[in-house]
Amino acid sequence: MRIAGSVALVTGASSGLGREVALGLAGAGARVLAHGRDTAALDELAGRIDAVPLPLDLAEPGAGPRLAESALQAAGRVDIVVHNAGQGWAGRFADMPQDAAERLLAVNLAAPVALTRALLPQLLARGEGHLLFVTSIAGRMGVAGEAVYSATKAGLDSFAESLRFELAGTRIGVGVFVPGVVQTAFFERRGRPYDRRRPRPLPAGVVAGAVVRMIASGRPERYAPAWLRLPVAVRGTLPGMYRRLGSRFGGVAR
Ligand SMILES: NC(=O)c1ccc[n+]([C@@H]2O[C@H](COP(=O)([O-])OP(=O)(O)OC[C@H]3O[C@@H](n4cnc5c(N)ncnc54)[C@H](OP(=O)(O)O)[C@@H]3O)[C@@H](O)[C@H]2O)c1
Repeated sequence: MRIAGSVALVTGASSGLGREVALGLAGAGARVLAHGRDTAALDELAGRIDAVPLPLDLAEPGAGPRLAESALQAAGRVDIVVHNAGQGWAGRFADMPQDAAERLLAVNLAAPVALTRALLPQLLARGEGHLLFVTSIAGRMGVAGEAVYSATKAGLDSFAESLRFELAGTRIGVGVFVPGVVQTAFFERRGRPYDRRRPRPLPAGVVAGAVVRMIASGRPERYAPAWLRLPVAVRGTLPGMYRRLGSRFGGVAR
């Protein structure tokens, strides 16, 4: 995918990984449409890279189509969509308030599906574009204390994989980026700081560079760090051993 001259919508561009991806795409010559909720952060980013701020809470009903409409109104087209906005929630599922579960399902899964549905026709009409989904290692392995978060990321993963099959033969790429741990506000915001030794948190700027390179190359999948594919492979080939090691890899809810 040629980034220079493209129009790129980045969801969750107001913070963390999304902000760094927006900076990277702008640096590579894209016109960035920067989505998020924090209007001050979006305005600061927009001033820095001449982006268009698109504030919207993705938990609101109809947010996906509304964001698509604002993006198309602002730029006339969208060539690249980076589905990055996401929230976590940490704790035992039995203790999770129903509204917290519904919010995660809406923001992490329903909104990106609806946004894709609303933007795909104009991509198909031009016959070219790229859809990049930021998932999580939690969606490939399951994590105690993050059941709904893991489910939303696994759902997004399967959605992207299915869409890639549907779009085979077009020049619309679909990528899944699978981070382990990135140094952002994510863990504080979900209510529990990151306290494991592995995987080691990676700087958001370094991870964002990998996302931008992935879009440019059209690579369908990438883990950050790359070794995370190993426990996923163990789960697929040796499920019994995977579950025995689960307390180490999958974590234990506290
Ligand atoms: N950090 C990690 O270790 C890690 C690991 C694996 C996967 N991920 C995934 O990476 C993505 C980026 O997270 P991050 O680490 O950069 O965390 P972050 O710094 O907390 O950023 C999250 C972004 O998502 C936006 N967002 C959250 N809820 C939203 C809502 N209801 N409506 C609209 N926007 C919303 C936030 O917007 P506002 O700030 O404006 O509210 C923010 O821009 C997420 O999908 C996360 O699941 C992160």
